[in-house]
Amino acid sequence: MQGKRACESSHSVSNALRAQSIVDSLSKLPVDARDAAFEALAGIADDGRFTKEAAPPGPSLIGYHASSVAAVLRTLWEVPLGGADVFVDLGAGLGKTVLLAALLTPARARGIEVQTPLATAARDAAKRLGVAVEITNADVRDAPLADGTLFYLYAPFTGDVLANVVLRLRAVAEDHDIVVAALGVDLARLAPWLAPRSVDSFWLTLYDSGFPGARPRSGATTGRTLTSPAAFAVAFAQPPPRETR
Ligand SMILES: C[S@@+](CC[C@H](N)C(=O)[O-])C[C@H]1O[C@@H](n2cnc3c(N)ncnc32)[C@H](O)[C@@H]1O
Repeated sequence: MQGKRACESSHSVSNALRAQSIVDSLSKLPVDARDAAFEALAGIADDGRFTKEAAPPGPSLIGYHASSVAAVLRTLWEVPLGGADVFVDLGAGLGKTVLLAALLTPARARGIEVQTPLATAARDAAKRLGVAVEITNADVRDAPLADGTLFYLYAPFTGDVLANVVLRLRAVAEDHDIVVAALGVDLARLAPWLAPRSVDSFWLTLYDSGFPGARPRSGATTGRTLTSPAAFAVAFAQPPPRETR
């Protein structure tokens, strides 16, 4: 038992060091070089392999385009995650957001992706990086959502599909509090039960649920990795510090 605990704590220390070193290196790059650098590290660079998957995979569904590292870090900066959190990317693509969440936070990170080549490549990337993420190759309309505490949506679908998924998120939120991070998706009309936070960002809206009787989200207590000036620089798309330019 003691051995197991020692092993877990050395694992989390090494994860935190790795997270810090990834964030530090990204912060030293020009803002417009950070995405390519992370994608190269993760082996998910846009090298023309997934042109077909960039097209809409079905009616009201949107094809693959990756989030920026800044968008993901900004989300994780604003919503510190703890070990009891579950980050769920709805329409995970090549897994960029899920990989970042797994690398940079103690939360469990999982993604749901309908296009099989993307889901397979995301799993391969996680294996290469040695991070534990779960990628479900399914349509979000049919996939399990009940454990999620932070749901991330970068324009995955519109219309009826979005309305259907929002209803499913509502059922989760009636059980426990959730945060929804939405990029390129306006949830104000579809989900009046979600309260938007005042986040000063053109592209990112964060929403909190808060149904009476729902279990509160515990969030980060310890092990928050995203407090450093480097993390701030990446999350807020700040240029590298002068001495590293
Ligand atoms: C704009 S991309 C975002 C990718 C990723 N979330 C990111 O931020 O880097 C949208 C993704 O959602 C996937 N998608 C669209 N409709 C879906 C559905 N109903 N179920 C699961 N995935 C879906 C697409 O295949 C695509 O990979």
